Amino acid sequence: MKGKHIVLGITGGIAAYKAATLARLFVKAGAEVQVVMTPAAKEFITPVTMSALTGKPVVSEFFTANTGEWHSHVDLGLWADAMVIAPATASSIAKMAYGVADNMLITTYLSAKAPVFIAPAMDLDMMAHPSTVANIELLKSYGNHIIEPAEGELASHLVGKGRMEEPERIFDVLYRFFNDTDELAGKKVLITAGPTHEAIDPVRFIGNYSTGKMGFALADAAVARGAEVTVVSGPVTVKPCHPAVKVIKVESACEMLAECEKRFDEASVAIFSAAVADYAPAHAESSKIKRETSDLHTLELVKNPDIAATLSGCKHPGQLTVGFALETDNETVNARHKLEKKNLDLIVLNSLRDKGAGFGCDTNKVSVYSSRGLIADLPLKSKQDCARDIISIITAYDPFTH
Ligand code: C5P
Repeated sequence: MKGKHIVLGITGGIAAYKAATLARLFVKAGAEVQVVMTPAAKEFITPVTMSALTGKPVVSEFFTANTGEWHSHVDLGLWADAMVIAPATASSIAKMAYGVADNMLITTYLSAKAPVFIAPAMDLDMMAHPSTVANIELLKSYGNHIIEPAEGELASHLVGKGRMEEPERIFDVLYRFFNDTDELAGKKVLITAGPTHEAIDPVRFIGNYSTGKMGFALADAAVARGAEVTVVSGPVTVKPCHPAVKVIKVESACEMLAECEKRFDEASVAIFSAAVADYAPAHAESSKIKRETSDLHTLELVKNPDIAATLSGCKHPGQLTVGFALETDNETVNARHKLEKKNLDLIVLNSLRDKGAGFGCDTNKVSVYSSRGLIADLPLKSKQDCARDIISIITAYDPFTH
């Protein structure tokens, strides 16, 4: 969704307040959002809110009143990679169906070359009225995508169909539209991400520089293919773009293993991208170790469980496990050795010798191996693109040919 141009049309309904959340989700995912509001929409949510969230002045009139500046609906229609009208009232739906171009939003809609997504929102009787039903059918026949309203309590307190679909769902429809296909539909994907922190005392830990960016990019890429994704993540600040990614936060390797064990059985794919600390202090002190009173010079360490090896060791037929290897030397041999030792199907190798690869950066350069050898050697690319490629390799993986 990064860099995509989205025209978000808002019409005058109570659900207009949800457009703020929708705009935020698009912006967070890296899209550029231009809001177009009907005059009635401004009674429900202010242009100030929408322009603050999108970083762009809201367009509502054909002219700016004091300067006479003309807002070109044609330019906007051409700029858009997608147009989303949420909420779409019965009146705006009727105007769109019949081309009644009496406001900026409808003219933009009529000029749009990009696909249009319409999320109706109205009371149940208006929704069920034959004219609304027919208008929606007309809009569908013109190739528009209707994001059907949900059933539930409406602003009138009546219960029925007419409630605008939740922003997260609308975002998901667009996300999938811009992204890939549905190869992972109905499949569960488990991903470990980030570092682990192994407590020394309440204020100190053993950790590493992993930021979790790769793991979360993989989660977004898997959701885009229709998967149900859970990330078990160590302490990180990154968040997934997609609201459907479930994130379980843990601190230590033992906690990460425990959370993964609960979910591994039903996962079709498990991707171990976490940088798990190899060792943990044998005892975490319950109060802060004081320099003045402690003569601690040596930390007694114990080996952490190997999450990838433990879980891959008990995988059932059809389950696919993928590990990562971050190497500094003898890369290929080490990576392939890890693949065998941990019983993985695939291993993603990134070499710290490659500039722009590894911890913290926004790019990565990886190659992917199966037990038969090299499957792909990818050039340097953004972690998002890299994640998409890795997910493509996973979905296309056939153990008998690769
Ligand atoms: O052995 P090494 O740490 O290099 O292996 C890296 C791979 O194993 C990664 O996929 C990492 O997530 C996984 N791993 C793990 N638990 C550990 C150590 C590594 O899951 N304790």
